[in-house]
Amino acid sequence: MEKVKVALIGYGHLGKWHAQKADQLENSELVAIVESFPQNQQAAKEAHPNVKVVEDLNEVINEIDAALIVTPTSLHFDIAKDLLKANKHIFCEKPLCSSLQQAQELSQYKKDVKLQVGHSERCHAAWEELRPTFTELPANKMIRLQRFAPFKGRATDVDVVQDLMIHDIDLLLYLFPHKIKSVRALGQKIRTANWDHVTAHFYFENGDEAMIVSGRNHVKEERSLEVMSEKGCHFVDLFQNKISYATHGQFDSGEYVQTHSYEKRDHLLIEQKAFYESILQDKKEFVTYEDGVAAIKIIECVLKSLDTHQEVQIND
Ligand SMILES: NC(=O)c1ccc[n+]([C@@H]2O[C@H](COP(=O)([O-])OP(=O)(O)OC[C@H]3O[C@@H](n4cnc5c(N)ncnc54)[C@H](O)[C@@H]3O)[C@@H](O)[C@H]2O)c1
Repeated sequence: MEKVKVALIGYGHLGKWHAQKADQLENSELVAIVESFPQNQQAAKEAHPNVKVVEDLNEVINEIDAALIVTPTSLHFDIAKDLLKANKHIFCEKPLCSSLQQAQELSQYKKDVKLQVGHSERCHAAWEELRPTFTELPANKMIRLQRFAPFKGRATDVDVVQDLMIHDIDLLLYLFPHKIKSVRALGQKIRTANWDHVTAHFYFENGDEAMIVSGRNHVKEERSLEVMSEKGCHFVDLFQNKISYATHGQFDSGEYVQTHSYEKRDHLLIEQKAFYESILQDKKEFVTYEDGVAAIKIIECVLKSLDTHQEVQIND
């Protein structure tokens, strides 16, 4: 196989960008777009006149090697199951599924194919510099992640934990290798019937603590990570692509804070390139099925804590 024949499933807000990348990359051939909503089918036909646009995956499943699942999260499980049963490689947007049970069930159908999950926040260039640094920092760190967005009326089939907090849960698992022991969360339902604003505290076995605050009813976008330890403070503005560092033992009057920008990258392009390379060169996925399951496991504990108002233990 020289090029991966791929179908894009769900030509919505994010799907249209994924389709563009699949069309532009050398290692892929976008052969079909599967979309159920007539207006979005029309938009797909206009943007990709040489690509087959269909309503049902079954119409093209025999013509593809792989698929990109970019439908609402509540549909990921059924679509992924059908693709795995047909032995097709999958790139699935985050979260992998709506529940841990569904995510774990997929392993029954996953044979010798690649399954990559769209935890795109791992693509920030900042982590190449900071991931080794964070690993070296002493224990008893305080980690704070914040992700705010204006209300967009999208992803209301899920709560803010599955919609936004999942990005930061994945970053927590990716950047800080110690085990998370428990979580305590508080939240509000403001604009939808689901949690719209959630604050979750995570307790690590090495004494680290993390707080993630996620909201989807704000006046502007804000995404950041801050790590405080006895060595000083690192602050990453994930929206402006800037890293600031205040070192230990110096007064934080501004002049001692060093700030530099890092390269802004095309995350979807990086993810898809890695996906096709994993298929063509039989390499490990950039974000694995196990990574996707691990994030959902933490999500379920956050949701349990929100419902019970109790601290929830995270078991193996
Ligand atoms: N990685 C990121 O940063 C990021 C950002 C946004 C969204 N997402 C994820 O991407 C997914 C899609 O989000 P979105 O904002 O693009 O949603 P969206 O509602 O804008 O688009 C979903 C599209 O899927 C179509 N669709 C629904 N059912 C279908 C079916 N059975 N077959 C084919 N098409 C179908 C809809 O008509 C719509 O066009 C979600 O899982 C979301 O969590 C990830």
